Amino acid sequence: MAAQEKKEAKKVRFLSGVQPSGKLHLGNYFGALRQHIALQDEGEAFYFIANYHAMTTVQDRGLLEQQTLDVALDYLALGLDLKKAVFFRQSDVPEVAELAWVLSAVTAKGLLDRATSYKDKVQRGIAPSVGLYYYPVLMAADILIYRSHVVPVGEDQVQHIEMTRDMAQSFNRTYKSEVFPVPKHRLDVGAKVPGLDGQKMSKSYDNTIEIFQEGKALRKRVMSIVTDSTPLEDPKDPDTCNVFALFQLVSSKEEQDELAGMYRAGNFGYGNAKKMLLEKIDETFGPYREERKRLEKDTGFVMSVLAEGGARARAEAQETMKLVREAAGLGQMPVPAAELLGSR
Ligand code: ADP
Ligand code: TRP
Repeated sequence: MAAQEKKEAKKVRFLSGVQPSGKLHLGNYFGALRQHIALQDEGEAFYFIANYHAMTTVQDRGLLEQQTLDVALDYLALGLDLKKAVFFRQSDVPEVAELAWVLSAVTAKGLLDRATSYKDKVQRGIAPSVGLYYYPVLMAADILIYRSHVVPVGEDQVQHIEMTRDMAQSFNRTYKSEVFPVPKHRLDVGAKVPGLDGQKMSKSYDNTIEIFQEGKALRKRVMSIVTDSTPLEDPKDPDTCNVFALFQLVSSKEEQDELAGMYRAGNFGYGNAKKMLLEKIDETFGPYREERKRLEKDTGFVMSVLAEGGARARAEAQETMKLVREAAGLGQMPVPAAELLGSR
């Protein structure tokens, strides 16, 4: 390809979001954040902190602000490069709520009725608010407003991306337009990381190992991973063991083969495997911990990063909304009210 053509070839746009609903854990890292950070070199990356989404569960102003800052610190400490990625807070682009409404009008209610994540959350005791039910529409708006192509997430989010595809097609068909590309999901190898109890690791199951946990607290979590009651001297099966599943995420192929050999040979207890896992977690995340502590002291910088990212994202969102409003007959983007009134 000639240099000029290469320059003009359309870049893939990646977009993803993480809710500030608690401390991020190894499931979030291996399912989502790790690929987010890697993909910033592969195309245009847009990542945001989904604080509108978190309002379905976090209804305390101070907590929402603190957890938003925590997610920002995590991303920055883990290597998000602000020269490459646009990083922002969902609520800095209020147009997304407008697009969600527009999409809701072309979305069959039956589509939302089938959302398994809504059912799971309600079953876990989260209030079945209209917002929680409507959440996949807001998520589709998040993706479509940046006309994204690829959405890197963990397995539990795949159904939401499928729904987004439906909504993009439905809008394009209804308004005979091509405003929205139809996006695809992207999974990493750690698409479904097990928690301490073997269920999916999740903030709401109290079964997580936090990315930035360390020292005694981390040790306590690792030592409490549930294992079966095979006697010490008997051979053990690495493929059904939670400790081994987590070890695989933080070790090399050789290290995994070695540990699997010890399991199968017998006379090797789960306690030893846990110690090896703990060492690998420290080795993997240790360097990022120092960086996070440094950033924690400079929250002014973090807030300015989010403000800058918000402005860049909003400019892009407003371009899409011009097309959406035109296609749907909603008129032009309104001029800011103060500007309009001032000119009278
Ligand atoms: P949680 O279930 O802990 O509330 P979120 O729903 O906020 O996590 O998920 C944020 C991102 O992390 C999503 O892309 C999600 O798919 C991914 N993710 C969450 N838990 C896991 C897990 N156990 N394994 C792999 N990916 C996960
Ligand atoms: N629903 C996602 C989660 O709970 C977060 C999210 C909101 C998101 N909007 C998104 C993920 C858009 C990808 C794209 O993890």
